[in-house]
Amino acid sequence: MLQKMIDLRSDTVTKPTPAMRRAMAEAEVGDDVYGEDPTVNRLQERAAEIFEKEAALFVPTGSMGNQTAVKLHTRPGQEVIIEERGHIYNFEMATMSAFSGALARPVHSNDGSGILTWDEIAGAIHHNSAYYVAPTGLIALENSHNLAGGSVLTRARTADICARAHEKNLPVHLDGARIFNAAAALGETIADLARPADSVMFCLSKGLGAPVGSMLLGERAFIDEARIVRKMLGGGMRQAGVLAAAGLVALEESPKQLPEDHANAKRLAEGVAELVGVKIDPEKVVTNIVIFDVAETGQTADAICAQLREHDILASGFGSSIRMVTHCDVARADIETALSEMRAILNH
Ligand SMILES: Cc1ncc(COP(=O)(O)O)c(C=O)c1O
Repeated sequence: MLQKMIDLRSDTVTKPTPAMRRAMAEAEVGDDVYGEDPTVNRLQERAAEIFEKEAALFVPTGSMGNQTAVKLHTRPGQEVIIEERGHIYNFEMATMSAFSGALARPVHSNDGSGILTWDEIAGAIHHNSAYYVAPTGLIALENSHNLAGGSVLTRARTADICARAHEKNLPVHLDGARIFNAAAALGETIADLARPADSVMFCLSKGLGAPVGSMLLGERAFIDEARIVRKMLGGGMRQAGVLAAAGLVALEESPKQLPEDHANAKRLAEGVAELVGVKIDPEKVVTNIVIFDVAETGQTADAICAQLREHDILASGFGSSIRMVTHCDVARADIETALSEMRAILNH
């Protein structure tokens, strides 16, 4: 029998649950470009209800949701303030410049958490500056912060940043690809974390386990325009209810799984922290992402990942760091297996 892969590269690798597959098979569908897919419409209404936003739009990917928001909030020649490891800046193919004509203004988070303070943001704002300085058009936040190890932006910090941005007439977009993880870790409701932001994107296809899809939320007029931008990007789908059906199951069923994923990530972080040469503070692992530095182990991240792969364990190497992400297709026993392989590779 083939041994099961323990795939810790990302929470995007999950397979649809039996309930999702059933819902997909039975989905009632129509042409969503005509607004006639009842399942897509139900998903959009349900997401808007959970987030307490006026409207929602189903998009194929998180990147499309984020870049649609950037397009609508900015005009060409403006800057987008974002933490320097932010996904919108680093992993979305410079789309903000190619599609929106906007320039990223990356900002360093001084405490290393990836969570910016208002003062850090304020220092990067060009507002009523000299005419030859590109003006700020948007502030982009990320919750949880992927490349910063799944760190979370609290409700209070989100509200503070948004209130002060709004005083300056600056919109805020929240990349909430993993906002359900953030809400579970913080013990907050999704609506409370999302409310102050002008627009929010979240992914059904990450921790929530759906095969495809993300949602963009905001005021109704914003979402009406987002539908047009989605079509410009080629994201007008037809009988997309087949996908939305899995998204509806994910919205209702998957959030309850997240505390277990977070406990598994914490256990993984505590285990790798004991390995000589590995650097990580397990206290800082509060969601499902575990990033640790292996520079002092005497082996490269890529070499360690290659050895793990020989034992059917998949992880991602980034420079001198390794990222492992827990999700619904990873059990506690898989975490213990991964830890014992790590111990063997590092000869402990
Ligand atoms: C924080 C964050 N935002 C946005 C995205 C983009 O999502 P997608 O891969 O669906 O385009 C990702 C994907 O990993 C992400 O981690």
